[in-house]
Amino acid sequence: MSEIKLLFEYADTYKDNKNYIESKKIDIRSFIPDNLLRKNIPRIPRLSELQVVRHYTNLSRLNMSIDGNFYPLGSCTMKYNPKVNDKCALDANFINLHPLQKDEDCQGTLQIFHELQGYLSGISGMDETSLQPLAGAHSELTGLLIVKAYYKDGKENKRNVVLIPDSAHGTNPATCTMCGFKVREIKTNERGCINLEDLKNKLSDEVACLMITNPNTLGIFEENIVEITSMLHKVGSLVYMDGANMNALIGIVRPGDFGVDLMHFNLHKTFTTPHGGGGPGAGAICVKKLLAQYLPVPHIELKQNKYVRNYNYPRSVGSISYFYGNTGNIIRGYVYIRSIGKEGLKRVAQMAVLNANYLLYKFRKLFLVPYKRRCMHEFVVSAKNIKAQYHVSTLDIVKRLLDYGFHAPTIYFPLIVEEAMLIEPTETEDVRTLDSFVAAMEKIVNEAKTNPELLHEAPHSTPVGRLNEVKAARDPILRWVPS
Ligand SMILES: Cc1ncc(COP(=O)(O)O)c(C=O)c1O
Repeated sequence: MSEIKLLFEYADTYKDNKNYIESKKIDIRSFIPDNLLRKNIPRIPRLSELQVVRHYTNLSRLNMSIDGNFYPLGSCTMKYNPKVNDKCALDANFINLHPLQKDEDCQGTLQIFHELQGYLSGISGMDETSLQPLAGAHSELTGLLIVKAYYKDGKENKRNVVLIPDSAHGTNPATCTMCGFKVREIKTNERGCINLEDLKNKLSDEVACLMITNPNTLGIFEENIVEITSMLHKVGSLVYMDGANMNALIGIVRPGDFGVDLMHFNLHKTFTTPHGGGGPGAGAICVKKLLAQYLPVPHIELKQNKYVRNYNYPRSVGSISYFYGNTGNIIRGYVYIRSIGKEGLKRVAQMAVLNANYLLYKFRKLFLVPYKRRCMHEFVVSAKNIKAQYHVSTLDIVKRLLDYGFHAPTIYFPLIVEEAMLIEPTETEDVRTLDSFVAAMEKIVNEAKTNPELLHEAPHSTPVGRLNEVKAARDPILRWVPS
């Protein structure tokens, strides 16, 4: 941690700027056009500190959060976010830095970017990394733009198909379509992995890449991954890996070693940034050497002992966000990796997989398990049996979980499993929490038998009851008025 502290001391430009402005007696208003200057004092409510504290504290209690509740939302990796990450990211020397500050004024921040690029290349087994994407889906977009640029350079414009397994997250096909690729779906076999026969039949010289998630969204490691990547390479296609589920692999397996050409991390999941409700995210796109020249600019590099933003990549796909990425989240990810180290990363993956298998073992007695095998960091069960017997749906079950103080798992996803619940406990939960979650599920299944109405109307103890979810999304009421 002492090295991190040293980096902070570099980032003292804010103080210099402030002193400069004060010493020159610069009137900031002279930089603002007259028509944009305020003519009247704004109508800002006058409140005491106590009123503000109560307002936000009460608001925060209306919701479920990782700091207050177990949050097994599959595929979202809602693990504990260490507070030291926030403490570092919110240091005044970082948050007051202007994105257009000269390279020599922000060496500490650029060093963090550069080192994190290196760590992620190492963890993924890739050669180069860019931290510019602002989310997982944004990284997918960047990755497919890179794939497109690569084939355009090689004059292989015919390659306009992307193969995607039917278990994939919805952002995968959406990204392909946005980039002008055609999507061709690959079937999942009875073991929850890619159907090799189907993949073989769909390979052609039109295929640009396979977009694969590993472990996949069923929580299963693609057991034929080496064969799969070599099948793609034999026909001149690339392999893109959606790395949203890297929490199961970090420190143990490197996608670059099993043939992946480019992949992304969701920094906000695997490397602990508080996320949810649409943000704030951070992605990282990692590529093998053959694709490095297409990465977004600027690329952060170390040249003659100076960290620089290098824009000199004529074949780059360009800038894909305003500046250099979500700096606050990049600092959080960096601090997390530096705090737990190489062995810590490995232990994260081991514990995440252990916790998920513990819950899967317990849930076998309550629900149907579509793929009867060991899982990775998450697993899928189906409440089809409960629905058939007691007319209680997966939605009813998870709404009732809220009454017992647990956030719901992901439901009705992956789409290939009926009445699905995708459960990801993460490594940061202890066995007592897991056992109390199992006990709540046992009670709910019992209630389904004895009092199904209770579940149809759940939740009963939350600030608002069951919402009209379509109306809530289309016509949200965002203003909270104290009662
Ligand atoms: C497997 C998978 N891919 C892609 C995404 C999209 O990531 P993001 O929400 O960061 O855009 C998610 C998000 O939940 C995911 O679980």
